[in-house]
Amino acid sequence: MSATWIPIAKVADVPLETGTLRVAHGGEAVCLYLLGGDVRATQDKCPHGNASLSEGYIVDEMIECPLHQGLFDIATGEVRSPPCTVNLATYPVKVEDGVIYLEETA
Ligand code: FES
Repeated sequence: MSATWIPIAKVADVPLETGTLRVAHGGEAVCLYLLGGDVRATQDKCPHGNASLSEGYIVDEMIECPLHQGLFDIATGEVRSPPCTVNLATYPVKVEDGVIYLEETA
């Protein structure tokens, strides 16, 4: 069965290298990043607490949580710095004609 892709934003709407764009997808908030020409997507809510990673800071292709400064690898979602212990969910992304698509969630 082939995947269904949902248009979620325009590439031009994602801040380049230093910021993020939060979008709603399948009932949850997703954080979009534009790094080195590639669009990435992770869950927006920090798994450590009630913080939005879209309000965090990008440091060397990692996202730093604005609440307790936990760090996550944006590409893989892996924890890079405490106090976080749970990895972020990451989502497949495709880009066509400047539009970002996320795979439909069940
Ligand atoms: Fe994100 Fe604590 S809420 S590090």
